[in-house]
Amino acid sequence: MRVVDLIEKKREKQELTKEEISFLLSEYLKGNVPDYQMSSFLMATYFNDMTADELLEFTTIMRDSGDTIKFDEIDKFLVDKHSTGGVGDKVTVVLAPVLAALGMGTAKLSGKGLGHTGGTIDKFESIDGFKFSNTRDELVSVANKTGIGLMGYSDKIVPLDKKLYSLRDVTGTVPSIPLIASSIMSKKLAIQSDVIILDVKVGDGAFMKDIEHAKELAKRMIEIGKDAGRKVKVVLSNMDEPLGYSIGNANEITEAIETLKGNGPEDLKEIVYAIASLALKAKGEIKELSEGKSKIEEVINNGSALKKLSEFISESGGNGNLVNDYNLFPQPKSMTEVFSEKDGYVSKIKAEEIGKAAMNIGAGRATKEDIIDHAVGIKILKKVGDKVNKGEKIAEIYYNDDKNVNNSRSMILDAYVIQSDKVDKQKAILEIIE
Ligand code: URA
Repeated sequence: MRVVDLIEKKREKQELTKEEISFLLSEYLKGNVPDYQMSSFLMATYFNDMTADELLEFTTIMRDSGDTIKFDEIDKFLVDKHSTGGVGDKVTVVLAPVLAALGMGTAKLSGKGLGHTGGTIDKFESIDGFKFSNTRDELVSVANKTGIGLMGYSDKIVPLDKKLYSLRDVTGTVPSIPLIASSIMSKKLAIQSDVIILDVKVGDGAFMKDIEHAKELAKRMIEIGKDAGRKVKVVLSNMDEPLGYSIGNANEITEAIETLKGNGPEDLKEIVYAIASLALKAKGEIKELSEGKSKIEEVINNGSALKKLSEFISESGGNGNLVNDYNLFPQPKSMTEVFSEKDGYVSKIKAEEIGKAAMNIGAGRATKEDIIDHAVGIKILKKVGDKVNKGEKIAEIYYNDDKNVNNSRSMILDAYVIQSDKVDKQKAILEIIE
């Protein structure tokens, strides 16, 4: 078999056989296919898509390129939730303790943030002494005590995705529906769970810029799951503004804690409630999603979800008391305010721009090697639909190093789209696909 023939086949929109896909991917993993040929194949895929059979084979081979993990010793209904990447996305920090308080377990691999999107690992690492589980056995031990099992991705799980993603990143082939679907689902299928719930972000700050593409991505991921005998549910959620008000790391954990105390922003609550309700329904505890709300509110109002988070932090090496003492978080040295330059209504807050403004002051990584400053971040004070007056405060920047602060201020001003006509508040959940 020759790789060039497979590239030409994809270029001509012909379907590749299982053997051909297997040959291409396994030889690439072994280092026998050069990056220039794989780049060409990825670009042909970007334009010509994959059939359902091709996608399933591609995903299966990716999954089997490394270790798969089972959690047989965790005697709980296991939920694996995954977001396609957002700005201000602290859903896991709220959701995992809520699920634990509802008697379910989370067994989830989390990533580090890169570019304008943040990662759950970085947010938790803003807690002094906090150590993420590094191995399956550590995750099982923490999850059995607290119901929350989170672990960083290791190089041994789907190593082919790591190699392909790095290449996609520099060849303009990241935003391809079959390539995203196989990348995400290969990692989900490598981990045991009872239900996979995917939060597909839609809008300015997301890979999927519009609802049609997001629905197509959701459909393809559900199909892959079904073929592999797994339950997959999807929420399509809005990323035409950051989620909640805080963007950074320590500040996102405190916003998550406030949500567990019942003081959370509406959009964050909406997503957590939707995903937790999907989990309850998948477990068979409720028949309709609408029955979930009262159960979730109960574990928030009686403090049991907050207690789960505190236990998880203590079990992971941090001080669980910080859920009631925010002085235990790293503190930024300075704060500066950002004032609106216009009168009107906020019609959009370009999430990617806000994510980059936070990255600029050290809250995120421009390259994998960058070190994060966990104390710094941005607080937005106005959301889509809010009225603003010229000169009114719209954001606060918390920082340690003033080098890029003015740059971040300009980016925040640029991110706020303000119009004279009244604008409706946005819904966080655009659609739920079961
Ligand atoms: N997240 C992933 O894991 N892979 C992609 O390709 C895009 C988002």
